[in-house]
Amino acid sequence: MARIIAGVSSSHVPAIGAAIDNKQTEEPYWKRVFSGFEKSKEWMAQAKPDVVILIYNDHASAFSVEMVPTFALGCAAEFPPADEGWGPRPVPVVKGHPQLAAHIAQSVILDEFDITVVNKMEVDHGLTVPMNLLFGSPKEWPCPVIPLAVNVVLYPPPTGHRCFMLGRAIRKAVESYPEDLRVVVFGTGGMSHQISGPRAGLINSKFDKAFLDNLTKDPKKLTRIPHLEYMREAGAEGIEMVMWLVMRGALEDKVDEVYRFYTVPASNTAVGHIILEPHRRSAKKAAGKSKKPAGKMKRAAARAKTAVLRSR
Ligand SMILES: [Fe+2]
Repeated sequence: MARIIAGVSSSHVPAIGAAIDNKQTEEPYWKRVFSGFEKSKEWMAQAKPDVVILIYNDHASAFSVEMVPTFALGCAAEFPPADEGWGPRPVPVVKGHPQLAAHIAQSVILDEFDITVVNKMEVDHGLTVPMNLLFGSPKEWPCPVIPLAVNVVLYPPPTGHRCFMLGRAIRKAVESYPEDLRVVVFGTGGMSHQISGPRAGLINSKFDKAFLDNLTKDPKKLTRIPHLEYMREAGAEGIEMVMWLVMRGALEDKVDEVYRFYTVPASNTAVGHIILEPHRRSAKKAAGKSKKPAGKMKRAAARAKTAVLRSR
């Protein structure tokens, strides 16, 4: 049976991708941003997911304003990088997982989430930048990725509650897939930012940090935030944060926060990042129990390794 081993979220600021492509990651301005993802890359290298389900929004690359699906699931075998105006990013073609994607499509549609099935799609910085942040810049991405594009660019976007419930439906779908796959769900976008108008450059760290706190402890509170509150508190593009709630809905109610990073600014955007794992007793407590079966002891040791990455 497939299972979700963790949820990850991060911003997908396009300028981060440009900094990677133009080899500026060691410059002081960008080093501050990239250094926050060093532990995350270690964590991902240890986690070694078989598949990533990556929730992002398309920025008029695959879908023009002529047709914008609310939820679009990538079911193709591969997804080339999109040309966003200066040529496709020099990143590997994303390989999909058509079998699991088709299974998710069937499961969530029968659960009354009327997603759009996409069999051909290019992917823009919304997907490729988070891939770089968690996997670095390899010649090939180390695992297949199922893209889930959410409309947050054309009013009306879905509510945070709808996104959270879609995450729940995705978890049910994954857990009913017969193959033994380890799946990471990766939500992207945000955090607070506004790219145009009189409030361009708006960043609200207080709102962002409270969002991160509640993402771990009280995600249902976040599902009640209305669109206007996102716009007022987090800027016009802050609505991207609803995509983090798809990730959170795909996890159990109780989670362990294993890593968090927040910095401002990157370009004109706040950068937030979090790694959540299913809740479990501490490795120390588990290891202290007598007559522990060997398998459980091994898992406790693995958890102790992960605990080294814990940072706030
Ligand atoms: Fe975006």
